[in-house]
Amino acid sequence: MIRATRTALVAATATALAVSALVLPSASAATGSSGSSTGTPADSAAARAKGPAASTLGELGRRAGLRIGTAVDMSALTADAPYREKAATEFSSVTPENVMKWESVEAVRGTYTWGPADDLVDFAQDNHQLVRGHTLVWHSQLPGWITSGSFTPDELRDILHRHITDEVKHFKGRIWQWDVVNEAFNDDGTLRDSIWLRNLGPGYIADAFRWAHEADPKAELYINDYNIEGVNPKSTALLALVTDLKKQHVPIDGVGVQGHLAVQYPAPHDIADNLARFDALGLDTAITEADVRMVMPADATKTEAQAEGYSVLLQGCLLTEHCTDFTVWGFTDKYSWVPNTFSGQGAANLLTEDYRPKQAYTALRQDLVLAGRR
Ligand code: G3I
Repeated sequence: MIRATRTALVAATATALAVSALVLPSASAATGSSGSSTGTPADSAAARAKGPAASTLGELGRRAGLRIGTAVDMSALTADAPYREKAATEFSSVTPENVMKWESVEAVRGTYTWGPADDLVDFAQDNHQLVRGHTLVWHSQLPGWITSGSFTPDELRDILHRHITDEVKHFKGRIWQWDVVNEAFNDDGTLRDSIWLRNLGPGYIADAFRWAHEADPKAELYINDYNIEGVNPKSTALLALVTDLKKQHVPIDGVGVQGHLAVQYPAPHDIADNLARFDALGLDTAITEADVRMVMPADATKTEAQAEGYSVLLQGCLLTEHCTDFTVWGFTDKYSWVPNTFSGQGAANLLTEDYRPKQAYTALRQDLVLAGRR
């Protein structure tokens, strides 16, 4: 439960981001792995000595005081060598895209399948990366035995308690941050009508955090949601909730802002203002699932708008003292959830399907280089 600090970064970043665009060479030569949990002075010195052009996003992030992560598709990690190489070298943290979700770990009641998630945690350890656990309590990707079962509220409460305890204990000591509760709100700021709210009432949120903390007191515990990038009814309702949780001494450490943007909608330019509200409460923040989709086909205008979208998200984080990490929800257009969910949309990631860097990748590098100059 240690709150990360990046005090010195704020002033430097504010100045640096005002500097006009710096043209960087393509980073396709990026190599090397990321470092230890917070980054040692030796890591920083090594990254500096290497120079920005040869550094990975993870290394540039370390100089700027934050982790740069990616969601990982375990099928791709297993079957696609270039994907595996990029996932290993470019990022300093990883998030399982699906394999820690309830339907993946306990499709059959009482029978756990930890293999793919264990493989990712081992991969992260081999590559000196941290792991964001995703996710313990969600209305979606629940096993069929829960959604089609008929349980009393007391039974459901026991089932949820056991799920959180068993999963968090299984990975105890190996997870940096857990998304404990995911997507609990509607866009209008009311709580989402889920199996958990209906049966357990709003107290399920505080209980989930308490149970997760009991199972691994050292893991950092987050509430995570989408459409909370800027100041709006949803982010304001979340602020009210976490204010209340803090008052009750519920063990919550941070707020995850997913960051799923689309070029056809305006990018929220008040992210830093929004995150500052959580910062003031003593909470860490993170951008946890950044991507910027577009209506296909891609063209130069959309690609440029996409770069701006990514940059707006990263700059919002860099300008927030306790925004500790920036995670993209996948890094290549070869594997993305977007076309399956938004018909006709795609190209949401930093690299093309054949792993060539897009403008968005260069924009993130520029922001990190500038933020790291101090
Ligand atoms: O595992 C089955 C496989 O057995 C089956 O053959 C295949 C056939 O379609 O489906 C597989 O399950 C898919 C699963 O991803 C694993 O690949 C589901 O259909 C598919 O719906 C599921 O989508 C995931 C989605 O969450 C589910 O809501 C996406 O990959 C994943 O990127 C997405 O991630 C969410 C975050 O967890 C929370 N925030 C939003 C974000 C994007 O929706």
